[in-house]
Amino acid sequence: MTKDSVIPDSENVSLMLKKLSALWKNRAAVNNKHADYSELAFESSKSDFSESLLPFRNHDAWREASQDIKSRCLSYAWGVYNLKTIYIECDVVTPACEDIIKRPPINSINRVELQDVMSEALLDEALHTRMSIMACNYIYDRRRLEPLNYTDFNLIKCRQMMLADCNAEWKRRLTCFAIACASETLITDYLKVMAEDNSIQRLCHEVTKGALISII
Ligand SMILES: [Fe+2]
Repeated sequence: MTKDSVIPDSENVSLMLKKLSALWKNRAAVNNKHADYSELAFESSKSDFSESLLPFRNHDAWREASQDIKSRCLSYAWGVYNLKTIYIECDVVTPACEDIIKRPPINSINRVELQDVMSEALLDEALHTRMSIMACNYIYDRRRLEPLNYTDFNLIKCRQMMLADCNAEWKRRLTCFAIACASETLITDYLKVMAEDNSIQRLCHEVTKGALISII
């Protein structure tokens, strides 16, 4: 490739942003007709979470636990998974989107495009939060379980510690963006397990399937 034929970075960025915007129009949860999950039939005999995702699934205490304890535990696994998702959306992803929307890079010729694409993404993130709220409350309601009251998520604490270690504003911003990108993309493997697990509660299966399509 000659020097003259090298595509400037700004054109590559523009191309990528256009692709992202096209994906958002086709795949984002907010642009797709989604079923009213609360209308889905509830089957009490089905698990609300994939057992294969439990880190203690091979522990003797788990193996020997009664079916009732296992069922409650899997319901709370679904609850804590969704609560963590809510924290990630609200405390990790949303602030990163808002930062770019409020302060797009001044000297970049992609400034307006970038701001525009981030505002699309933010709309979808708000729906992810809503889906998680509906999904865990559905299970608490059907199982008559007391909702979890937990705030001490490791990822949120680690993020705060990493940000406190940054000695410049630009480092803090970059760290926020990096953590947001990592947490949005690394959730895919986790989601995939439940999206492909037909044995779990229909709502849990459908919600994770919907979230997976909107991310990939
Ligand atoms: Fe999200």
